[in-house]
Amino acid sequence: MEALIFELSCPGRIGHSLPEIDTDDYAAAIPAELRRESLDLPELSELDVMRHFVRLSQLNYSIDSGFYPLGSCTMKYNPKINEDAASLPGFYHLHPMQPEYEIQGALQIQYELQEMLMALAGMDACTLQPAAGAHGEFTGMALVRAYHRSRGDADRNLVLIPDSAHGTNPATCTSLGMTVMSLKTGADGNVDMTVLERALAENQGKVAGMMITVPSTLGQFEPNIVKIADLLHAAGALLYCDGANMNAMVGEIRPGDLGVDVLHINLHKTFTTPHGGGGPGSGPVACKAHLAPFLPTPVVAKEGDRYVMQTPEHTIGKVRAFWGNFGMHIRAYTYIRQQGASGLKQVSRDAVLNANYIRTQLQDTIPPAHDRPCMHEVVLTGKRLKQETGVKTLDVVKRLMDYGYHAPTIYFPLIVEECMLIEPTETESRETMDGFIAAMKAIVAEAHSDPELVKSAPHNTQLGRLDEVTAARDPKLRWLPSDPRDEESAWGSGRNPNLVSKLEPLTRD
Ligand SMILES: Cc1ncc(COP(=O)(O)O)c(C=O)c1O
Repeated sequence: MEALIFELSCPGRIGHSLPEIDTDDYAAAIPAELRRESLDLPELSELDVMRHFVRLSQLNYSIDSGFYPLGSCTMKYNPKINEDAASLPGFYHLHPMQPEYEIQGALQIQYELQEMLMALAGMDACTLQPAAGAHGEFTGMALVRAYHRSRGDADRNLVLIPDSAHGTNPATCTSLGMTVMSLKTGADGNVDMTVLERALAENQGKVAGMMITVPSTLGQFEPNIVKIADLLHAAGALLYCDGANMNAMVGEIRPGDLGVDVLHINLHKTFTTPHGGGGPGSGPVACKAHLAPFLPTPVVAKEGDRYVMQTPEHTIGKVRAFWGNFGMHIRAYTYIRQQGASGLKQVSRDAVLNANYIRTQLQDTIPPAHDRPCMHEVVLTGKRLKQETGVKTLDVVKRLMDYGYHAPTIYFPLIVEECMLIEPTETESRETMDGFIAAMKAIVAEAHSDPELVKSAPHNTQLGRLDEVTAARDPKLRWLPSDPRDEESAWGSGRNPNLVSKLEPLTRD
């Protein structure tokens, strides 16, 4: 196992050469109580540091190194041309406080990206500001709320959310101070229309809208979506679509044509901007004309041959500093321009084809939760396997790591027992998927012949099975040399007691 960088430290070794300080004026500028004699930093050469981090990076699993079927996350390959475009010095060195006339090229990219997303979504207006999908949801639902308030309909604060929606949907409403009503999904995985009709009838004048994930987290297209939109509109409510799963329908279906009023799109899923690890994403929101006046400020507009920043008339205000995650906009723009309309259509067709290939190849091994074709991802259930062998879904995916694959999403969606959510994406070849399918079949065979082998997996990884409850409840988020309450050993003799008392709560995490 790779040692910690502190453990590699060798007293006196240095990896830098800085000029001697020929003044002690700097000392006067720092109040005495804030000065430290020692930082207790690890002492290593440049080569030690380089090798340590390269070794760590090689322990990492990434889409560039292997199949990553993490459902709901659309971990598809990000073409490197996107990176080239985002690294062009003219973009890379832009400063967000440059005046409009100096950044016309950047604004043009943003304007054209807005237009392309509107065309793909069937919408009339767009903001690129939200920093990720959940932030897009927040922005979109803030538009819904502002719309109702502008009409004197402030009592509309209830949002209907099917239980097959992404978990961020209810969280979004709660953070906006809206009330959530969860709608139980029918046995077929679709919205239960009777449940919806009852909810609307019982809450007349109170429903702000419905948030629906299309395709749902069950990997199913909602066949009643148009009827759902009609029912909501007739009740004075709006339809929000969580469009983060656009990879299943981009170029084929426009949510705006289905009656959706507003949606967000995850650029970091559908349009190949990198994501994961909490890195920068981008969750633009596109909406119909009646919501456009409430969009966050600024939006990029075109006046004659100039691109300008505008503030919509009844804007909800700012949701993000400056112009959003501009680097992600360039990457998505590059990808869309590179694919063209026909390429994007092929993306969704291949994504759906690949998911159905996995579904049909595995149906006798681990059955799908719903016995019908899926969209871009498939939900399997390990319920039968658990009954027959005692091996749980968690065990199966831990064993997958021994076979060299990243685990799919598990135990989500919550409404399917022992579930696995597998999203192969369109960028994977048949050979890759066949390898994964063979691994799954081998693991299920092992579960029958030697269940302990699977239950104790992984065996070939740097660390074996972790205690997940302790990891979640008592995470160690940073390294400390010894008990943090032992001030001298932890921070050296120059430690400032005031600073330390602020740090202590952190160290106990
Ligand atoms: C369907 C769906 N909605 C919303 C989100 C939230 O997006 P983000 O993680 O960018 O906030 C995701 C994330 O993958 C998603 O799959």
